[in-house]
Amino acid sequence: MRTVGIIGLGYVGLPLAVAFAREDCEVVAVDLDARKVEAIARCESYIEDVASEDLRALGERIHASTRYSSLAKADAVLVCVPTPLTKNREPDLSPLLDATRALAGVLQAGQLVVVESTTYPGTTRERLAPLLAESGLTAGRDFNLAFSPERVDPGRTDFVLRNTPKVLGGLTETCAQRARELYELVCETIVMVSTPEAAELTKLLENIFRSVNIALVNELAMITDRMGIDIWEVVDAAATKPYGFMRFEPGPGMGGHCLPVDPFYLSWRAREFDLAAEFIELAGKVNQQMPYHCVAKAQRVLNDVGLAIKGARVLVVGVSYKAGVGDLRESPALKIIELLREQGAEVSYHDPHVASIGHLGLESVALDRALPAADLVLIVTAHPSVDHELIVTQGRRVLDLRGVTRRTQRENVARL
Ligand SMILES: NC(=O)c1ccc[n+]([C@@H]2O[C@H](COP(=O)([O-])OP(=O)(O)OC[C@H]3O[C@@H](n4cnc5c(N)ncnc54)[C@H](O)[C@@H]3O)[C@@H](O)[C@H]2O)c1
Repeated sequence: MRTVGIIGLGYVGLPLAVAFAREDCEVVAVDLDARKVEAIARCESYIEDVASEDLRALGERIHASTRYSSLAKADAVLVCVPTPLTKNREPDLSPLLDATRALAGVLQAGQLVVVESTTYPGTTRERLAPLLAESGLTAGRDFNLAFSPERVDPGRTDFVLRNTPKVLGGLTETCAQRARELYELVCETIVMVSTPEAAELTKLLENIFRSVNIALVNELAMITDRMGIDIWEVVDAAATKPYGFMRFEPGPGMGGHCLPVDPFYLSWRAREFDLAAEFIELAGKVNQQMPYHCVAKAQRVLNDVGLAIKGARVLVVGVSYKAGVGDLRESPALKIIELLREQGAEVSYHDPHVASIGHLGLESVALDRALPAADLVLIVTAHPSVDHELIVTQGRRVLDLRGVTRRTQRENVARL
């Protein structure tokens, strides 16, 4: 039986643990968060894409711990820790470097190490291999090292780990082949690239592509707002072109752990090569402006009926960063709530996926009870389980930032 080690049991690491356990591997996982380790021991999932029943069915095969020593017996170790930005929007590699240093302390000859955390090209070779060498073992000679970016899209059911092609670049040919054999257990298609750098950059290209295109359509949304043209009608019409156009939706800004963060890993790295990644920076700037634009629009909607934001009761519907999930990370809804509160609005929210927002002191309220009391309902995230028809029929005034009401022509409904 193969033993697979996983460092970081979050959105990426836990689904991987389940996938390998399903293929009869023994999984030894390490996370610094004792609550997660305890939850795994109780077979309780804290990730929406992983069912607790799956953990119960596979419980025998997944062992979680806060200690790295358990990784010594693994054939392969997958690193899935966060790669955030610092306050100054520079890559914060500290979780990745800490995890790598701790792994070096237990690394064994013959092991395979694969990094899945999103990062800039050069990290695996220049930053991680030297740290792992502190074990006395050399990457490519005594142990194998590769980079394979996670492409999971939380909440998605049509493309999951198994049928999403997995990109992989090894430090040496042998490193790549070993990693390929491992991932073939859980992925149907492996896409080999020549180096870890190519694999690292592939992931960044995918996210930058989305960020730039979302920024473009968001910029158009701000222009069409001035011009009095319906952006949703324009996007729907453009998307009928059978070639040469790819649909992206405007919205209140970008959220999640990836799109608002990853592109800046490349722009930071590009500066070392005397290059300014202007598309990336510009896209970030436009997308960061969107919550301000949305709050300004809310102000106009209230103004039209003689109300000010100060003292207005605003019900925000949907606070997670995207539909169908409860992930609040970098969610534009948080910025919107903050801006509304700064201007004196009384903000409440409804979100079937988010019971409370601790740092804002808010708890989700029942939609049917909150609707009649709200001066303005702001649809920030359009969860499929929310009754948007009820919102437009019972809400006094509605501002829809996601276009879910685009087929509705009602006096009380305005859109981004
Ligand atoms: N969430 C996504 O949709 C997604 C998709 C593709 C790629 N990624 C990338 O995958 C990586 C992980 O993202 P995530 O969303 O799973 O993050 P996460 O925050 O959900 O999980 C990371 C886990 O690592 C643990 N951790 C942090 N430092 C540690 C350390 N030194 N040792 C052991 N455990 C440690 C944390 O406690 C946490 O449980 C990031 O680089 C991210 O960019 C995420």
